[in-house]
Amino acid sequence: MKVLIVGANGKVGTLLSGKLWSAHDFSPVALIRDVRQQMKFTAFGVPSVVGDIENGVSEFLPGMDAVIFTAGSGAHTGPDKTIDIDQNGAIRLIDDCAKIGIRRFVMVSAIGADPESESDRIRNYLRAKGVADNHLRTSGLDYVILQPGRLQDDRGTGLIEVAEDLGRHGTIPREDVADAIIECLRNYLTIGKTIQMISGKKMTKEAIAELVGGGDLPPIA
Ligand SMILES: NC(=O)c1ccc[n+]([C@@H]2O[C@H](COP(=O)([O-])OP(=O)(O)OC[C@H]3O[C@@H](n4cnc5c(N)ncnc54)[C@H](OP(=O)(O)O)[C@@H]3O)[C@@H](O)[C@H]2O)c1
Repeated sequence: MKVLIVGANGKVGTLLSGKLWSAHDFSPVALIRDVRQQMKFTAFGVPSVVGDIENGVSEFLPGMDAVIFTAGSGAHTGPDKTIDIDQNGAIRLIDDCAKIGIRRFVMVSAIGADPESESDRIRNYLRAKGVADNHLRTSGLDYVILQPGRLQDDRGTGLIEVAEDLGRHGTIPREDVADAIIECLRNYLTIGKTIQMISGKKMTKEAIAELVGGGDLPPIA
């Protein structure tokens, strides 16, 4: 499965790039913003393309079997950039995928994403993520929306808790999110689902299969 990783130079994106490269059933392509980031991916053996979702990256979509959105404006930018990237950048990418016929789309969103979030701390972010998630739900794409809790840089444990609505917050290592993205690509029964995830007690593959009601289906030919 040829997969475009949007936000590949980020923390989740970098982990995901390495993991997809070493999995025998994926062929990742890293979308990065700066040509100077290319060396890291060349060292991994992962091909990279340089583009910015604010300007559109549709030229890199033909030939892809799936797109992962794990980009984000980050905490250091202002509220406008959150709207530009987490919301409008994602929406533009979703629309381009629909136009070009790239059906599989995995969105890395966040627990609490909601166009009407009243969060005190990160309302603007959660609203932007919520608008993008809703746009994806009505896009006609074969989507999965992963909504992790607060991300941590610790090593993954491989143990998670998932639900369509966990009803609480929590934390999760970025490595476990990267593994869950790969599991969602492999398990076609995740299509159309919103999956909240935090650290837990179940192995990633089993936790996701249990939630979506089944196991593996064969990968795209
Ligand atoms: N932090 C949390 O606790 C938390 C919780 C739940 C969900 N999330 C979500 O999880 C995802 C991954 O998080 P992370 O920690 O891996 O993020 P990260 O390290 O900040 O990475 C974000 C990546 O997005 C790229 N990016 C930003 N603007 C872009 C643009 N216009 N075009 C193309 N790429 C662009 C950045 O590029 P550069 O490297 O060039 O800057 C960066 O590589 C994000 O969507 C985030 O919102 C985060």
